[in-house]
Amino acid sequence: MPSTVDLLDSSLYAYGYPYEVWRTMREAGPVHHRVARTGSRFWAVVGHEAGRQVLTDWKVFTSTRGTTLRADDNSAPYPGAGKMPVLTDPPRHTDLRRAVARLFTPKAVRQLGALAREVAGSLLAELRERGGGDFVTEVAARFPLLVQAEMLGIPPEDVPMVLHATGRSVEDADDAAAGHHEVMTYYLKALGARRGQAGPDLIGTLLAARAGGLPLSDEEIVLTCDNIVVAASQTAGHAASGSLLALLEHPAAWEALRAGRVGADTAVEELLRWTAPATHLMRTAVCDTDLAGTTIRAGDAVAVWIAAANRDGAVFARPDALLLDRRPNPHLTLGAGMHFCLGAALVRVLLRTLLEELTRADASLALAGPPGWQSTWVVNGLRSLPVTVVPAEKRAPRRTVVIHHGLDGAARPGTPSVPLP
Ligand code: HEM
Repeated sequence: MPSTVDLLDSSLYAYGYPYEVWRTMREAGPVHHRVARTGSRFWAVVGHEAGRQVLTDWKVFTSTRGTTLRADDNSAPYPGAGKMPVLTDPPRHTDLRRAVARLFTPKAVRQLGALAREVAGSLLAELRERGGGDFVTEVAARFPLLVQAEMLGIPPEDVPMVLHATGRSVEDADDAAAGHHEVMTYYLKALGARRGQAGPDLIGTLLAARAGGLPLSDEEIVLTCDNIVVAASQTAGHAASGSLLALLEHPAAWEALRAGRVGADTAVEELLRWTAPATHLMRTAVCDTDLAGTTIRAGDAVAVWIAAANRDGAVFARPDALLLDRRPNPHLTLGAGMHFCLGAALVRVLLRTLLEELTRADASLALAGPPGWQSTWVVNGLRSLPVTVVPAEKRAPRRTVVIHHGLDGAARPGTPSVPLP
């Protein structure tokens, strides 16, 4: 059965990640050829070592032909290729990455960290005042972009529009192109208004940047803005809501974190391993090569399934257990090699801050209903997470429900259960 499962069937992701499918594939080998019902042909990499090899060997596996699988033809030209960091190989990549890296200096990340505490505190306070709500739409989805809005040059009134546009751009339907277009049109207008004015925000930084001694082109600036804003807003929100769900599903682990028996830093890494919002990263082979004993031909698309690699028992002891003190934790959630997430330090600060704010509160959150998933094979995570506020004295579990379901929608025996108020 697993040999025929269509990894680009959105319904496969309707209840979270299909770990059973990936595990069965991995038992047969780390690399599998796939043809999706919609026509997309690619190699699916489900093993950690082979995945790391693909992500780090840019001379063989290029990013310039796209980094996300397409439903039909992975060999078609990719818009934006060679003009934004994520779709570029060296030497241009080195220049573009250096240009944006100035936004993520340790000082800048520290400043954003202070803002993150304020934003997380006030979003959670509002949620508590209402007695609960949807943690995704009311907290997690808004949190990263609200913290980064000023740096990204987005005034507060535009935040909902940008969130909507970036959300569309990580859907697997035709919506993706429309979403990217919306973000780029927004930045093109901003670029027109800003010409000649430097400044510490994203556009100002890119206007002042030099690559190979020359200014960036307008197209490179706008595409790089799209790269950053989509990365900054969507994945981090999914990691935040997925982290809360993981903690609600594992009350003993959360209690250990609350009591200081495990450190926040290792907890953040484990929650990143667990949530893995970028489902896969694609590369294209530029020459014939061997990958874990499989011959890959020049021009073939190769997709590393990140969440699958993150559960590889050859690298992670007890891969299906949430161990907040796991160390080392070489997950691939933030990528590997030269394209390793530029926002990594910031993501860690955002998640750590949110965890601290969630954990120190005098009232805690409990699930108020089943979580809903995005159900996409591009950037997956929770669409909704209904929570209710439980005053500290009532925190003890009173009843337990099974909230995980199999791909057929039936509850799976032996899956984690959560306390409900
Ligand atoms: C939990 C949240 C995040 C996750 C899971 C994540 C994941 C990733 C991954 C997997 C890559 C590698 C892409 C590839 O190899 O093709 C990447 C690259 C990148 N990320 Fe993140 N990211 C997150 C948050 C952020 C944030 C907050 C920013 C900040 C603006 C950001 C900016 C970038 C940029 C600019 C790149 C491209 C780097 C390059 O190509 O050199 N990311 N991210």
